[in-house]
Amino acid sequence: MKQDQNYLWWQSGIIYQVYPRSFQDSDGDGVGDLCGIISRLDYLKWLGITAVWVSPIYPSPMADFGYDISDYCGIHPLFGTMDDFDKLLKEVHKRDMKLILDLVPNHTSHKHAWFEESRSSKDSPKRDWYIWQDAQEDGSEPNNWLSVFGGSAWEWDKQTEQYYYHAFLKEQPDLNWRNPEVQQAMFDVMRFWLDKGVDGFRVDVMWHMIKDEKLRDNPANPDYKAHQATYEQLIPAYSTDQPEIHNIVAKMREVTDAYEERVLIGEIYLPVHRLVTYYGQNNNGAHLPFNFTLITLDWDARSISSHVDEYEGALPEGGWPNWVIGNHDQPRITSRIGREQAKVAAMLLLTLRGTPTLYYGDELGMRDVPIPADRIQDPQGLNMPDKDLSRDPARTPMQWSEKDYAGFTTTEPWLPLPNNYQRVNVEVQKEDQYSMLSFYRRLIKLRQQEPALHVGDYQPVITSGPLVAYTREKDGKKFMVVLNLSHKPCTLKEEHQHYTGKVVLATDPEREGEAVKGSFNLYGDEGILVELAKSMAY
Ligand code: GLC
Repeated sequence: MKQDQNYLWWQSGIIYQVYPRSFQDSDGDGVGDLCGIISRLDYLKWLGITAVWVSPIYPSPMADFGYDISDYCGIHPLFGTMDDFDKLLKEVHKRDMKLILDLVPNHTSHKHAWFEESRSSKDSPKRDWYIWQDAQEDGSEPNNWLSVFGGSAWEWDKQTEQYYYHAFLKEQPDLNWRNPEVQQAMFDVMRFWLDKGVDGFRVDVMWHMIKDEKLRDNPANPDYKAHQATYEQLIPAYSTDQPEIHNIVAKMREVTDAYEERVLIGEIYLPVHRLVTYYGQNNNGAHLPFNFTLITLDWDARSISSHVDEYEGALPEGGWPNWVIGNHDQPRITSRIGREQAKVAAMLLLTLRGTPTLYYGDELGMRDVPIPADRIQDPQGLNMPDKDLSRDPARTPMQWSEKDYAGFTTTEPWLPLPNNYQRVNVEVQKEDQYSMLSFYRRLIKLRQQEPALHVGDYQPVITSGPLVAYTREKDGKKFMVVLNLSHKPCTLKEEHQHYTGKVVLATDPEREGEAVKGSFNLYGDEGILVELAKSMAY
């Protein structure tokens, strides 16, 4: 791959998220593991991605499937051993790829030794490591804050007669990041993995890490709708995104920067103008505050185009953009916008300016799988059963082949497979030049071969109706991307410029090689990538 040497790997590369429970099982227990991931690294290399982010693999009671950690420096036996981890890291590096770990600093498991010590007595030296508060006079919670997973965010501890705060489950008590000892302990965790050679972290719920010092009540949300999670009843003005967070992130960045070429990614669900503050003063914050706009926006050409431009405009100088279209917390892209649009979405993700993050299985067009009531596992789904918020449908096993259990395992997997896995799987799609997988692979290859596409400049092309269009350019080479976000045909009119070039990649490969001159038509659900004639590049 001809990647531009002037850019760092996390700028010019492509990140792929592996949800370890669901990627590949190697020991026949129905749950994926580290040896399973190792056995599939050649596939990832073949696909062309350059960095693998693995969701938590640490010891955990699994109340929130690994996001409740009881030991930050170990490996859950379900996933393997530390030796397996070391092997994974070595094998990833051997293939010239990078490994990013999930870091969950906002909260621990209630079974973590820190919390057990903290809850043992009000005089515990670790009491202040968590957020403990007296009840109000009438015995009620210290304030009105709500848990993301439903109900109050405060849990009463009978033994020591105080409440503790948990933004998520009561099994996930929040650490007190105002305490310098907590900060140092977590920085040591980071160093433990960085010393091993891990290439960076995706930091869980970064915008939650510091809360208002006075713990003031959150205001009511006037726009709350009954179908939303109960958490949305309030605006989390005091429980998230506090100004002090930036100082903490800058310290995490310092820890990361003591090592060569490591990356710090932040999981942050905030509007663009607040999201970009996480790049930090003079870019001393997260390298990549995850940009979830393509997940949270309606799939509509006008709102997407204007948001891309808003984001481009809001980025601080030197701030590198990034795009995400799926993760383990959200419905899959195919289920959100439909199968027909999924290729258009892939083209958008992989041709916008900035680092793309792919979610495992999206490259096959995997759909959300309906989960029978007695198999629902996700606490978010179980706690709010009438709201349809379970994240299980997007976490089902990777579909590798037409074999039993899709080649993922040899026994009933922890979540069910869809009934179409014999058709929708890696082996079948590899052989089919029109498949989603073949499309992803060709798109990735072209992106990584062309500096204009992986690091080039972005310029919007003014369109109307259901079209999103823009150009990417570097060193005199220029591409134009035109995407039809509707099912109906439409025309790109040459209102503003006269385009001349050749289609080099298209959702329907039949179109490739076609000459483009001025206005041209697109089919419904079509996306094309045009290499513009040299004269157009200046
Ligand atoms: C993040 C994770 C999600 C988890 C939550 C609590 O949002 O992505 O899966 O449930 O944090 O740790």
